[in-house]
Amino acid sequence: MTPGSGKTEVISYSRLYRLWEENSWSATGLDFSTDAKHWDEKLTDRQREAALWNYAMFLLGEEAVARTLTPVLDAAPTHEQKIFLTTQIVDEARHHVFFDRFMREVAGQGTDIESTLSAVDGLVTWGFRQVFNELDRVSDALRKKPGDRALLAQTVALYHVVVEGLLAIPGQHFIQRYVEKMEILPAFSEGITNVSRDESRHVAFGIRFLGELVRSSTDCRDAAVEMFNRALPWAIGVFIPPNLDPSYTECFDFTLEEIYAFALRSFETKLNRIGIAPSEIALLSRDNADYPYDERARRAWVLIRAGIIGDERREPEVSPEALEILFEGLTRIVHLDVARALGGPIEFDLTDAGTWHLEVTNGHAEAHPGPAGKPALTLQSTAADWAKISVSRMDPRVALLTRKLKVHGSLSSRAKLPKLFTF
Ligand SMILES: [Fe+2]
Ligand SMILES: [Fe+2]
Repeated sequence: MTPGSGKTEVISYSRLYRLWEENSWSATGLDFSTDAKHWDEKLTDRQREAALWNYAMFLLGEEAVARTLTPVLDAAPTHEQKIFLTTQIVDEARHHVFFDRFMREVAGQGTDIESTLSAVDGLVTWGFRQVFNELDRVSDALRKKPGDRALLAQTVALYHVVVEGLLAIPGQHFIQRYVEKMEILPAFSEGITNVSRDESRHVAFGIRFLGELVRSSTDCRDAAVEMFNRALPWAIGVFIPPNLDPSYTECFDFTLEEIYAFALRSFETKLNRIGIAPSEIALLSRDNADYPYDERARRAWVLIRAGIIGDERREPEVSPEALEILFEGLTRIVHLDVARALGGPIEFDLTDAGTWHLEVTNGHAEAHPGPAGKPALTLQSTAADWAKISVSRMDPRVALLTRKLKVHGSLSSRAKLPKLFTF
C-alpha cells in the first residue's frame, strides 16, 4: 500500500510516520556542481527561463508551507496527527533548503536565503499569489481559533489537497519526467524525486485527516467544499506561463493541456477519497465527466486563452468555441424542474456575440446557438459579462443590480430566475 495509489484504503498515521523515518534524505548533502554546468551548457535560453519560472514557484511555495503548518499542528486533535505534522514541518523546511540551494548555486539567484527569495518573487503568477495569500489568511485565522474544526478543515483542504495535491505533485511529476529523460541536472533530479516522495506522504496524510473531519460534521464538510470552490479558480491560474506562451512547457516536451489533465484527474481522485463528489465543486459541476481528462483539459484551456478563467485581471475576449463550452456547462447547472415550470425556452441575447437558447426536452437540458422562437425568459448582457457569470466570477445578483444583466419575461418567469441555475 503506497500513498497516492488510488484504489487502496487510506494509510494509517503511524505507517506514514514510519515511512518518514525510512525515507529521510539530505538537502545539504547534494552536489550541484554538474547541475551548474548543465544549466550553462546543456539548457537553451528558453529552457532556463521556463525552469526559473517554474522552480521559483516551488521555492516560494515551500517557504510558505513551512511557515503556515504550525497552526494545523496546534489544532490537530490527536497525538498521532501531531507527530506526523511535526515530521512534515521538518520536510517543508528541507524542501525550502533544497530549492534555495538550486536557485543560488545553479541558477545564480541571490546570495543568501532572504535575497534568493526576493530575487525570484516577481516571477510568480496571479493565481499563485491568490492561493498563497489565502493560505496565509486561513492559517492565521486557525492560529487564532485552534478549536475551530471548520477552519481546520479549510486549512487542510487548501494546504494538503490544493497546494500539495493539485499543484505541487503534478508539477513535480513533469519535472521528474523531463530531467530523467533529458539526462540533465542530476542533483536536482535526485532532490526532486525525494521531494515528490515526501509530498505524496503529506497528501496521503491530508486525505485521511480531511476525510475524517468531513465525515465528523456537516459544518466541516461545507467548509471544505467552500474552500475548494474559492481556491479552484485561483489554482487554475497558477501554471499559466507569461503571455500564455506554450513554449514554457513544450521546451521540456510536454504541453500545458497535458499537465492540466494530469492535475484534474489527480484532484478528482483525491476528492472522491475524501468523500466529496467532484460534482459538488462549482467549476467541476459544469464539466462533462464523461469526457476524457485530456478533452476536459483542452476545454479548460479554451476558457483560459479567452481570459474567462485563470487570471481575473483579464477582461474576457469570448471566442465562439468558449461560448459553446460555457453553454454546455450551463445545461448541467440548470434546475430542470424550475426550467420546465417556465413553460418555454430561455434565450440569451449576447449584445456583442449573437443569441443562444436553452430548452428542456425529454428530461434533459440542451443549449443551441440562435434565437428560441418564443422564449419564456430572455437574459441580456455582453458575452464577457455572461462568461464571468457562467464561471461564478461575477455574482448574477450584482449583475442585475448594476444592469450588466437584464431580464425580460413575465413577472412569474422573472421570479423563477434566482432558482434557475446553481451559480
Ligand atoms: Fe514541500
Ligand atoms: Fe509538503
